[in-house]
Amino acid sequence: MQVPSGSPGWLEAFTAAERPDLWELAREQRLFDNLWPEYNLHGNNSGYFGSLVPRHARFQVVLVDRRSERLIARARTIPFRWDGTLEDLPAGIDAVGLRAVDNPGRSTALSALAAEVDRDYQGCGLSGLLVRAMGAVARDAGLTPLLAPVRPSWKDRYPLIPIERYAAWRRDDGLPFDPWMRVHARLGARTVRAEPCSLQISAPVQDWEAWTEMSFPDDGQYVFPGGLAPLTTNGDVGDYWEPNVWMLHDV
Ligand SMILES: CC(C)(COP(=O)(O)OP(=O)(O)OC[C@H]1O[C@@H](n2cnc3c(N)ncnc32)[C@H](O)[C@@H]1OP(=O)(O)O)[C@@H](O)C(=O)NCCC(=O)NCCS
Repeated sequence: MQVPSGSPGWLEAFTAAERPDLWELAREQRLFDNLWPEYNLHGNNSGYFGSLVPRHARFQVVLVDRRSERLIARARTIPFRWDGTLEDLPAGIDAVGLRAVDNPGRSTALSALAAEVDRDYQGCGLSGLLVRAMGAVARDAGLTPLLAPVRPSWKDRYPLIPIERYAAWRRDDGLPFDPWMRVHARLGARTVRAEPCSLQISAPVQDWEAWTEMSFPDDGQYVFPGGLAPLTTNGDVGDYWEPNVWMLHDV
């Protein structure tokens, strides 16, 4: 695929259909796993990620630095059916993934699932190029709009603030307070709805203790490193719902 206009000359973009080998390399070597807090890799319903390449390879994008042949960013998306109303909008990332897999029907829109930029390349504006690449594959397939269940990058600094309020925070220039939401907003996306229960991670307390390197000696609510919301422990089980914010790009 073509790189978005304005990309640096050293950047190349490929879909997983064009370069399945690169996609496989990222998977095999877990190139992007280190970008996420450990707990975030254990979603209860995240099986829909497994359907992406077998069924939707042309909607998955990788960016490569041609100077070093290094794979530096990845965008994963999933086509789904949506009638365009708020009532029909899935209640977050799990809900959109499950709808896409359980009830494929005729897809009408594309949902972003994850955008990942190698740490060495963060802070250079690559994330906006990734979002534009997702918009391009959506547009080419007639799957519009592109929706993103955005995982706000700074929400972990404010785990006790409800996502509805966090999503509404603005800077003096009117742009969202959150940097990742800001990237989407600058590209023309609008905030559609905050989702307090987007990604479910319910697991034995022992697992949570290993993932977070904390102890949870008692039942209750805990703030933990990298968590976007508190963890609730009850007996042997720790429950966490990751909040996201739906943003919509008319592509
Ligand atoms: C979120 C992510 C994709 C952003 O990618 P990026 O290429 O570094 O982002 P950009 O360079 O385009 O910067 C985007 C904004 O974030 C800010 N930013 C980037 N890196 C930052 C950092 N390390 N700390 C604080 N702010 C940062 C930038 O200043 C910019 O905001 P501004 O232009 O208003 O100042 C990347 O950090 C990442 O892969 N994170 C881990 C996975 C993840 O959380 N993905 C998003 C959820 S799907």
